[in-house]
Amino acid sequence: MKSLTKRNYAIVIVILGITGFLIWRFIRPMNIFVVSEAFERPIDTSGAPSMLKTLRADECATCHREFYDEWQTTIHSQAWTDPYFQVDWVFDGSQQICKNCHIPLDRQQKYKVLGFKDKEKLEPILEDNPDFDAKLQHEGVTCAVCHLREGKVVGVLGIENAPHPIKTLNDPNEMCMKCHVVGGDRWDTFFRFPPCGTVAEIQTQSGARLGSEDSKGSKGSPSTRAEPTKPGGPSVGPKDAPSMSGRSGEIRVPNTAALSCVECHMPLVERSIVAGGKVWPTRRHLWRGGHDPAMVKKGLEVRFEETRSDSSNKRAFVLTLTNVGAAHYLPTGTPDRHLTVQLRLLDVQANVLRAEHHTLKRTLMWRPFIVDLWDTRLPRWQPRTYIFEFSAAGKTKPAQVEAIVRYHLLDEKRRKRIGYKNKEPIAYEVFRKSISL
Ligand code: HEC
Ligand code: HEC
Ligand code: HEC
Ligand code: HEC
Ligand code: HEC
Repeated sequence: MKSLTKRNYAIVIVILGITGFLIWRFIRPMNIFVVSEAFERPIDTSGAPSMLKTLRADECATCHREFYDEWQTTIHSQAWTDPYFQVDWVFDGSQQICKNCHIPLDRQQKYKVLGFKDKEKLEPILEDNPDFDAKLQHEGVTCAVCHLREGKVVGVLGIENAPHPIKTLNDPNEMCMKCHVVGGDRWDTFFRFPPCGTVAEIQTQSGARLGSEDSKGSKGSPSTRAEPTKPGGPSVGPKDAPSMSGRSGEIRVPNTAALSCVECHMPLVERSIVAGGKVWPTRRHLWRGGHDPAMVKKGLEVRFEETRSDSSNKRAFVLTLTNVGAAHYLPTGTPDRHLTVQLRLLDVQANVLRAEHHTLKRTLMWRPFIVDLWDTRLPRWQPRTYIFEFSAAGKTKPAQVEAIVRYHLLDEKRRKRIGYKNKEPIAYEVFRKSISL
């Protein structure tokens, strides 16, 4: 009798313990990513070349006008002012850590980071920054963010006679790693989840994550000037293409050079770097992505056509979506990004007789643990088909079938939850086709 009470007592303690733990998991502040060395602190600009006074983009523009004009059209130049970012940042508690990718230069930040109060490096020790420059802050991912390293301007061309000191990189893709390919494991995260869900689906062949410590300084082969596979080609990849594998279809590549980010996101163009200067193979500073319908359409091949139905009194149509133009998933980026597919059957008055709806997205469980539940986005070169079958006879005769594919920057529910009052649309159509029956 006595031992039974003891046992009950123990069970109650265990249950209380587990309940308490789960409650803590539900209410504690969520730190969904690991702060890695690559972005734990702002970029130190104290050693910047003395000829560069402000480090502002308009300073570079005095000599590199075209690069400036292109950069100004991009989301990089709005990485701080972007209204969606601003609302989301405040909603998430205005954390300092977000600044280290969205406005990474020390002079872009109001406070200096002296150290950290916690092991996870999410609570920095701050001090007023006398060098803070509000104008530079508004430039977000500005020229110096990518180009300033160890007191030199980094480039890949190997130019020696520039007015500023130059450090030559083997591989331009290295410049994207800091923010776009971020690794890090934690005990309570059952899948890799970097900040903003940046291109998470990339691993080196050895299984090491690019951007994590163990793959730092990977020696890429010298930058190739090959152009990416043209969209509209066959829905099968070349033999030497990076393989997609892993539970989530990660891309496995031997080194950063093989990632080819710049080949797709910075198109090649022959031009001079300074007015009247020598002509070089340069890259346009465009970085198009989810904010640009043309870029998404370029990566996505959509076909909608009739197919054979198994049953004689039915007709069947097939919609095929293939990621032909993005090395990573389509869509990629934050888990907000998704595609929706609508298949509809209409009568002569355009009344909807039947409709089917599909969502292509990465679905996560956030609490009590972060778990990647399922992922229906499109890995490269793996066609996804939806068959829409219906009876051609019946009382209300169908007049046409229609397929609509839309890209969403974020979900309407999340937009409402964070209170983001968008001026630009948060979704747009990338494909629509009607077929008369
Ligand atoms: C006073 C003019 C001037 C300013 C200001 C200037 N540059 Fe340059 N830059 C040059 C010249 C000249 C070259 C060499 C051009 C050539 O040889 O064709 C050059 C070359 C470069 C290269 C190519 C290096 C390589 O080997 O690939 C990069 C990258 C670059 N500049 C970035 C910048 C950035 C970023 C800024 C602002 C932080 C900046 N420059 C400011 C004049 C300038
Ligand atoms: C200092 C961090 C940083 C670096 C380095 C960086 N990016 Fe970005 N990038 C960002 C941020 C932050 C955004 C999102 C800005 C926003 O939407 O508020 C972004 C957005 C993008 C987008 C999405 C455009 C869209 O429409 O949403 C593309 C594509 C992109 N970057 C490509 C690149 C490539 C290629 C490189 C390397 C040459 C690179 N980036 C280097 C931080 C960085
Ligand atoms: C997101 C990172 C990023 C930002 C921001 C950025 N650049 Fe670049 N830039 C690159 C990369 C990567 C290359 C190397 C491209 C190549 O040639 O392979 C480059 C190359 C250059 C070159 C040499 C020509 C060439 O294409 O190789 C110049 C000049 C230059 N950038 C100027 C600028 C100026 C001016 C700004 C700001 C207005 C700027 N960059 C902003 C990533 C960036
Ligand atoms: C073969 C061409 C190709 C390569 C290589 C490639 N991308 Fe993309 N990328 C695309 C296309 C097409 C899109 C637009 C469709 C989409 O969002 O997936 C895109 C979209 C993006 C976006 C936009 C996400 C958003 O939220 O709007 C980012 C960020 C991005 N790529 C980063 C990268 C980085 C970093 C690399 C290198 C590791 C890379 N890409 C390599 C073609 C490519
Ligand atoms: C390691 C670098 C990094 C850190 C840290 C980071 N971001 Fe980002 N963020 C990015 C990149 C890269 C993108 C580019 C878009 C993508 O991949 O979808 C982005 C995109 C975004 C977007 C989408 C913007 C758009 O225009 O659709 C929002 C919102 C955002 N970040 C908010 C935050 C907040 C809030 C934090 C801090 C909790 C944060 N970010 C921390 C790198 C970072």
